[in-house]
Amino acid sequence: MTRRSWLGPLTALALALALSVERVYAADQAGGAAGAADAAEIARGAYLAKAADCAGCHTAAPHLTRRGAPPTLSPPFAGGLGMGSPFGTIYSSNITPDLHAGIGRYSYDDFARALRDGVAPGGKRLYPAMPYPSFARITDDDMHALYAYFMHGVPPVATPAPETQLPFPFNQRWALMFWDWVFAPRGVFKPEAGRDAQWNRGAYFVQSLGHCGACHTPRGPAYEERGYSESSAAYLTGGTNDHWFAPNLTGDPGSGLGRSSAADIAAFLKHGHGGGLVTFGSMVQVVEDSTQYLNDTDLDAIAVYLKSLPARAPSGHFNGQSRAAQQTAQAFKTGNVERPGAGVYASYCARCHQMDGAGVPQKYPRLAGNPAVLSPSTTSLVRLLVEGGASPHTDGGPEPREMPSFAGKLNDREIAHVLTFIRNTWGNAAAPVTARDVSSVRAALHK
Ligand code: HEC
Ligand code: HEC
Ligand code: HEC
Repeated sequence: MTRRSWLGPLTALALALALSVERVYAADQAGGAAGAADAAEIARGAYLAKAADCAGCHTAAPHLTRRGAPPTLSPPFAGGLGMGSPFGTIYSSNITPDLHAGIGRYSYDDFARALRDGVAPGGKRLYPAMPYPSFARITDDDMHALYAYFMHGVPPVATPAPETQLPFPFNQRWALMFWDWVFAPRGVFKPEAGRDAQWNRGAYFVQSLGHCGACHTPRGPAYEERGYSESSAAYLTGGTNDHWFAPNLTGDPGSGLGRSSAADIAAFLKHGHGGGLVTFGSMVQVVEDSTQYLNDTDLDAIAVYLKSLPARAPSGHFNGQSRAAQQTAQAFKTGNVERPGAGVYASYCARCHQMDGAGVPQKYPRLAGNPAVLSPSTTSLVRLLVEGGASPHTDGGPEPREMPSFAGKLNDREIAHVLTFIRNTWGNAAAPVTARDVSSVRAALHK
């Protein structure tokens, strides 16, 4: 089972548990002004934990107890989610306040050091699968609220998470000290003096709690992110993780956010739908577990910050008014489309994405001018066609819709043709996709 299918209900459970515990805690403290302040601090910590998606990584997949019975959800924050790395599986830790299995013995300083420096008590160095290089920027105020939440707002779970056992030399955690020296940034977020409060709020969220760069920034040879703020040229210009390509979030008008408005970006983060785009791949769980819970002020700030990033790493083009765009529109009307891939598109894709590539608002994404379709890496496009997908389930958002899997219906050549077609029709222009590109992604996915 994929994380995507269970994180929706899981998030609901986590919130319900967190809220009920908060209520008990608040009741315990009732009567004292200090108690009320603590409850507010814990609630703020719960919100920040959503912004940072702690539950997404620190909750194991649901397990089957009996054949045919619905899977049992794993307790939130009890760890044990396996994350693939080039060296083997890394399991997330139990971060509930249990004294033995979890982090109940952590002092505030232990907590801040684990989050910012990637060093757990006893000097255990954490693998950067835990995004401490981004969390290094979390302010002291927010760190205190997170600590209050994890100590008093999360129910303890006594089951230890499985041990991570990587082969030698990757099991030598002390050696991460060198990685940290060279690559991990230091210092909490410092507001830019020349920017207003909204921009700084957005920059702070994106760079620290949101750890957006963990997916959207390309990585170097030692798995380090090539930059942690807009002062680095490669920051947020697109990266591949787990065979999903997270696109360029700078102002590139081709495959970046150059043609998206701040309002579209905020809507996309709130419900996974914005400006005709629909989130897919690993971004679905980011929206479901994390960004949908952010308030409008914070979503707008994130959008304003992203829109301020100058165009970098340009790739792909879109011109809806071009002659080529008019010609395809005409050819589709008269049924005279001979380009390879056009037939596959008409038979298998147009019923949802429409002949003119415009999609259906709140249901199916437009492919015309879609930055993800124009991206330099086509890994995500191949993966989506082979595996299929479903749009996110959010509070108050559009109903989730499925994109079918074409693994059994189209061969590698047909997939390459239809992808090349959607990348070069309706005014889209991007490099073609070859059958070899398709087969190498399928081999890596074992699909
Ligand atoms: C992208 C995935 C991811 C996210 C998001 C994440 N973590 Fe982690 N975290 C991990 C992994 C994986 C480990 C275990 C690393 C290891 O064993 O070296 C870990 C380890 C930890 C530890 C060390 C526990 C110990 O003693 O072993 C703490 C504390 C922690 N995380 C807290 C948090 C908090 C709080 C948040 C949210 C603010 C968070 N994490 C968000 C993946 C994540
Ligand atoms: C787990 C990896 C991951 C993380 C973390 C992540 N993203 Fe994404 N994001 C993706 C992938 C993959 C896509 C491409 C699929 C899609 O368009 O939904 C994407 C797409 C997007 C898009 C649409 C881009 C376009 O041009 O169509 C936006 C905007 C975005 N992400 C913003 C963010 C922000 C802001 C954050 C941090 C709060 C973030 N992402 C964190 C993986 C991630
Ligand atoms: C039954 C309706 C349906 C059909 C048929 C369909 N799709 Fe989709 N498509 C969707 C939905 C729904 C999404 C959003 C998926 C998600 O969120 O995981 C999507 C997403 C996409 C995306 C990612 C763009 C984005 O912004 O989300 C591409 C590219 C795509 N489809 C291409 C195709 C191609 C090519 C075909 C034909 C081979 C096809 N689709 C057939 C419903 C469909």
